Amino acid sequence: MKGIILAGGRGTRLYPLTLSVSKQLLPVHDKPMIYYPLSVLMLAGVRDILIISTAHDLDAFRSLLGDGAPLGLDLDYAVQDEPRGIADAFRIGAGHVGSDDVALILGDNIFHGPGFGEVLQSRVASLDGCVLFGYRVPDPERYGVAQADATGRIVDVEEKPTEPRSNLAVTGLYLYDNEVVDIAAGIRPSARGELEITDVNRVYVRRRAATLVDLGRGFTWLDTGTHDALTDASHYMQMMEQRQGIRVGCIEEIALNMGYIDAESCHRLGRRLAHSDYGQYVMRVASSTPALLATT
Ligand code: TTP
Repeated sequence: MKGIILAGGRGTRLYPLTLSVSKQLLPVHDKPMIYYPLSVLMLAGVRDILIISTAHDLDAFRSLLGDGAPLGLDLDYAVQDEPRGIADAFRIGAGHVGSDDVALILGDNIFHGPGFGEVLQSRVASLDGCVLFGYRVPDPERYGVAQADATGRIVDVEEKPTEPRSNLAVTGLYLYDNEVVDIAAGIRPSARGELEITDVNRVYVRRRAATLVDLGRGFTWLDTGTHDALTDASHYMQMMEQRQGIRVGCIEEIALNMGYIDAESCHRLGRRLAHSDYGQYVMRVASSTPALLATT
C-alpha cells in the first residue's frame, strides 16, 4: 500500500501563524505537526509516501524529512498549487499510487489510542473498497458524517449536514483500493469549487464497498485548525509525556519498533538531536532495545 500526506491548504484560521509557515510545520509540543500523520502511516506499515504541499512550503518539508531513508522510508514530494480539495490528492498522486491501494491522511490530523497500529494493519491487510474512521463528536454538523449498519457497512455519508443522522465524524484518514484514482478523476468540483472527498466516498457507499471503523471511547482524535485547538493539542502531548513518559508521534521510535531501522541507526538519529529532550528520548529508546545493548 502507498501513502499520501496532504499538507497544503492556506491555514487561514491560524493567521498570522501561517502567513509564512505551513500549518503542518507548526510545533505540536515537541515536534512538527506532520510527524503525527507520518507516524500513523508508518504504524499502518506504509513506507512509500508522497507528501503534497504548496510550492512555497515544499522545500521546508523536504529539508525536514528528506528522502526518508534514515527512517527506512521512501518519501517523495509533489505540489498542489491551489487548495482544490482533498480528493485532488489522487489526481496529483496518481503516478505515485500506480496500481496499488492507498492510505491518505491529512497533514493536520492527530490520532492517538491503544492498539491503533494493529487496527490499521489489519484493515490494510483486509482492505476491500474503502475504510473510513469515525469519531464521536458533539458537533457533527461541522464535519463529514457517516452512518453505518450493524456490520460497519456505511449506508450514507454527508458533508456538513444541517441535521446529522449520526454523531460519527469522518476523520482525515482514509484507506482505498486502487479504484480511487479513477473515481477521483471522474468527480466534479462542488459548489465551493473543491474536489470533495465525500463525493469519492459516496461512490464507494453506492457500490456497498465502504466500511466504517468506529475509533471508540478512549481514543483521541485532535484537530489543530484553530489557535485554541493547536494549543490544546500541544498540552495533550505534553501531558502524555509528563504523566506517562511516552512521546506520541516519535517517528524514530516507530521506525525502530516497526523494524524499519535497527537500534544503532535509531541511536544515531537521536544523537543528532541530543541537545533536546526529544533527542535524549530517542537515544534512550534505542539503548533499551536488546540489539544495541548487545553491541555496546
Ligand atoms: P482545512 O482545514 O480544510 O483547510 P486549511 O488547512 O487550509 O485551513 P483553513 O480552514 O484555516 O484555511 O484542511 C484540512 C487539511 O487538509 C489541512 O492539513 C490542509 C489539507 N488540505 C490540502 O492540503 N489541500 C486542500 O485542497 C484541502 C482542501 C485541504
